Amino acid sequence: MQRERWYKDMVFYQIWPRSFKDGDGDGMGDLWGVLEKLDYIKGLGCDGIWFSPIYPSPGADCGYDIADYMDIAPEFGGMEAFRKVLDGCHERGMKLIMDLVVNHTSDEHAWFQKSRQRIEPYSDYYIWRPAKPDGTLPNNWDSNFEGKAWTWDEVRGEYYLHLFAVKQPDLNMDNPLVREEVKKILRFWLDMGVDGFREDVITYISKKEGLSDDHLFPIYKGMPNYNHGPHIHEYLEEFKRDVFDHYDCFTLAEAPLVWPRQALKYIDEENGQLDMMIQFQCQCADCLFTDYLPTKFSLRRMKKAFSDWQYKLAGRAWNMLYIENHDHPRIISRYGSEKFWKESGKTLAVMYLLQQGTPFLYQGQEIGMLNWRPEDAEMYEDVQTRYNYAHSNLNKSPEKRLHKMWRSSRDSARTPVQWDDTENAGFTTGTPWFYVNDNYKTINVAAQEKDPDSILNFYRRTIKLRKALPVVRHGQYREHFRLDMRRYVYSREMEGQKLLVICSFSDRPVKMKIPAGFDLSRAELVLQTHKDAGDTLQPYESRVYLWNE
Ligand code: NOJ
Repeated sequence: MQRERWYKDMVFYQIWPRSFKDGDGDGMGDLWGVLEKLDYIKGLGCDGIWFSPIYPSPGADCGYDIADYMDIAPEFGGMEAFRKVLDGCHERGMKLIMDLVVNHTSDEHAWFQKSRQRIEPYSDYYIWRPAKPDGTLPNNWDSNFEGKAWTWDEVRGEYYLHLFAVKQPDLNMDNPLVREEVKKILRFWLDMGVDGFREDVITYISKKEGLSDDHLFPIYKGMPNYNHGPHIHEYLEEFKRDVFDHYDCFTLAEAPLVWPRQALKYIDEENGQLDMMIQFQCQCADCLFTDYLPTKFSLRRMKKAFSDWQYKLAGRAWNMLYIENHDHPRIISRYGSEKFWKESGKTLAVMYLLQQGTPFLYQGQEIGMLNWRPEDAEMYEDVQTRYNYAHSNLNKSPEKRLHKMWRSSRDSARTPVQWDDTENAGFTTGTPWFYVNDNYKTINVAAQEKDPDSILNFYRRTIKLRKALPVVRHGQYREHFRLDMRRYVYSREMEGQKLLVICSFSDRPVKMKIPAGFDLSRAELVLQTHKDAGDTLQPYESRVYLWNE
């Protein structure tokens, strides 16, 4: 049966709940705060919300360590607040998707507590191994966050696998009972009315049999043995067949290392098991391999990544478009320029919002929030940042080490949303759980609401334009001047409509360059970051031209 793929016409807003808006004054963002801001989100032109985890959790990884999948954490307002938010979304014609984190649970989840005591049927819910005969770890894998991937459990007298933090033991998805639990969780939320799921590191859930040592990867050792593992498509197909096919919902899969061709095995509209994929390539134009080996931003690398996904999914699958989320530092600080804050913030918006796919905005992105700069590494909260800081670049000066963290830490983008210029940026009336970026007096929603030329209002205009033009959903994408190191130029074309997007990524004026076959005298300039549109592009200037034929 042909599905209605309504998500293709939408724009989503990601809420990382702790830092969005505090509604009850305890210093922690919550669903009461979200309820207050639903009209704001809708007013951006967003049609849906993705919630990073809001389930009960000890918070070792800010909610990505779940202790109970079928409840809402009391600090976020519990089920009562959640139902109000869900209804509030639906009344406004908005969708709501949840984060499904089933590669691992919290070690405080009841399943793990029973599993470590070998209480049936839970004893095989996780991946337990004895030490090797010589007393060493079961294999040489690294965890993604905290040293080696194995921790000894005194109660069970065995090691358990954790691909992330020590407090995030991996589930054993090869156990059919675990897969049944996942289906129960999915049905629970779908029956309540949620509209889909973002699936956390879902490509990791099937580990290669034998869990043998990895001699291939220099870092993240073990990854070839669990990313895109042997039964991944089978398990995803099972979830689709048994659950998703029976609901009007969509799925968005997070995939840390994936190329377009491989992605098609998951999201091809003919026979994929999922709908969209969060890939990291577009996020790695300033890093080698991952965010945590920062290098210089390369516009060419960024263009290549965006174009590859545009070209290779065209007609077969649908892109998920994003430039920020809770796992990456702020985009202006990375791909743009803090000096040309407003200009580069707008250009980054145009650059991705007019491509083919479903765009996601991360809270605060729409006002151009910048990386937070702590004075002391002790101020970082994030488990991964703290581990990286303690173990890397030890021979560098304290200033250099802090600077590296500023560039790469997830906490750079996890400070409270800056709503206004009052105390704590209007985020809470209490004591905020985390630091507020000092720049909130100048960068905040209230100030930008009043300014027609603000980044916030520019996002609104760009999203409105996106929705008004069929060519943005349907048009063929083409990149021009591929080797150009200062400009990103692409077009979108369909019968009767054509769009040309020109973005400068230079901090100096550069000449306008128009690809052959685009006659500007017959075009309408439908969007621009700067007032005058001459022969020169000002630093970080963007223009969008439209032809209706
Ligand atoms: C990916 C999530 O986006 C990230 O925030 C989390 O820490 C890891 N998966 C582990 O769940």
